Amino acid sequence: MARPIAIVPSVLPADLARLGEEVAALEAAGADRIQWDVMDGRFVPNLTFGPEVIAAARRHSGLPFEAHLMVEAPERMLERYVDAGCGRLIVHVESTVHVHRVLAEVVRLGAKAAVALNPSTPAVAVAHVLDLVDMVLVMTVNPGFGGQRYLASMEPKIREVRAMCDASGGEIDVEVDGGIAPDTVAAAVRAGANVLVAGSALFGRPGGTASAITELRRRAAAP
Ligand code: DX5
Repeated sequence: MARPIAIVPSVLPADLARLGEEVAALEAAGADRIQWDVMDGRFVPNLTFGPEVIAAARRHSGLPFEAHLMVEAPERMLERYVDAGCGRLIVHVESTVHVHRVLAEVVRLGAKAAVALNPSTPAVAVAHVLDLVDMVLVMTVNPGFGGQRYLASMEPKIREVRAMCDASGGEIDVEVDGGIAPDTVAAAVRAGANVLVAGSALFGRPGGTASAITELRRRAAAP
């Protein structure tokens, strides 16, 4: 059965000098939850949000927060991102040796666990952790920066991950992140994605963020 569509803005392109207002505006604009692209300058060639930044924004929105941990050794920081107000932590399979142990720790900390795959990582890499997660993120760009081109070559992997999640018997969402926009979202949904992360497609749009979210949701609902 089709999983519900969720539109999840990434705050990477937000006005970081007004982050509290930006997350409040995303809630008013109809976002389902907010993704924080956490980058350490080592796992990816960019450096972004520490837990204190997220904690500062936490009081400005009632939306669920998820941390996309694009960091080496995420196990060192899990508790701090949960304490900062992230209800879901997304761990890259490529970022730590003991992925199963790290995801189990996320669950022990009381957060939802999700697992992410870089473009070159095969779907089979998550085959033995599906019992621990409520979402698999299939990256549709190489992580590190917003505004990149959607990789349609990831659609067979999205399809494969969707089939694996269905076969597991769990209630698992498939999220995509990278180049998701009105002209790419339908193909990603047809391939099996139901949680859609977007940054540059939602910020700085002529019609505003609310209409951009509405348009993305409309296209996702009728792929
Ligand atoms: C890449 C980031 C971006 C961001 C969304 O590491 O994760 O994918 O969230 O960026 P856009 O929507 O601008 O591609």
